[in-house]
Amino acid sequence: MIGRPAGSGSAVLAKALSKAGNGRPMVKLACGNRAATILDVIAHGLARRARSRHGAGMAIQHLFPTPLWQGQLDDAALLADLAHSCRSLAEDDSAGRRWSRDHRYRGYTSYASLNDLPARDPAFGDLARWLVRQASAFAAAAHLDLAGRKPKLDSLWVNILKPGGGHSGHIHPHSIISGTLYVEVPAGAGSIRFEDPRLPMLMHAPPRTADAPAESRNFVHVEPEAGVLLLWESWLRHEVMPSAAKADRISISFNFD
Ligand SMILES: [Fe+2]
Repeated sequence: MIGRPAGSGSAVLAKALSKAGNGRPMVKLACGNRAATILDVIAHGLARRARSRHGAGMAIQHLFPTPLWQGQLDDAALLADLAHSCRSLAEDDSAGRRWSRDHRYRGYTSYASLNDLPARDPAFGDLARWLVRQASAFAAAAHLDLAGRKPKLDSLWVNILKPGGGHSGHIHPHSIISGTLYVEVPAGAGSIRFEDPRLPMLMHAPPRTADAPAESRNFVHVEPEAGVLLLWESWLRHEVMPSAAKADRISISFNFD
């Protein structure tokens, strides 16, 4: 490390190095598009340090952001219809109940049993049309180049999670945008936790400070509320934390392609 010389910075250092090199620059370095002497490089460093001391020219950018869209379904009647439809499905869909039981899903999901909910029920049809508008706005805001087409709703399913239930960390393969609409969220229901996609590369990275903003954290919890819509790119790993609520947590999840 170079200590700060007494006197006038680079002039003193230039004199000392010139003396050591018998008046000739000792080393040539590649610096940008020209060859610079070591004196140029050191003088540049000293000038940069001086600017830093005064805060001039300092800037920080946050590169590679991970977009998370939050919308709000302001339609209480539609939310009530969706809640009713979800409960009816859980009663009628024996294949879905069996799949949930076999896969130790604590509650009911139509994920593996029904793939036509928007055509089957007008409430899901209304929801699907709203979701396409929201996903299109998200794609534009996130600068996704879809070659002029809208995101296509590929699948949509119901989740009724019993108290104590959760869903371990996962991604949604073969999709571009995924998300969840929260229909009923009792007090104490689990949050959804998103993970920094760079997690495997952070082996020796220090933890973030307690006051770090969301964009600088490695895990971000979102506490859902009824009517809230979350959208994210499908590669983003997420987890539903175990619910401590005394009632069911109802949500509708979906994938776009
Ligand atoms: Fe998910």
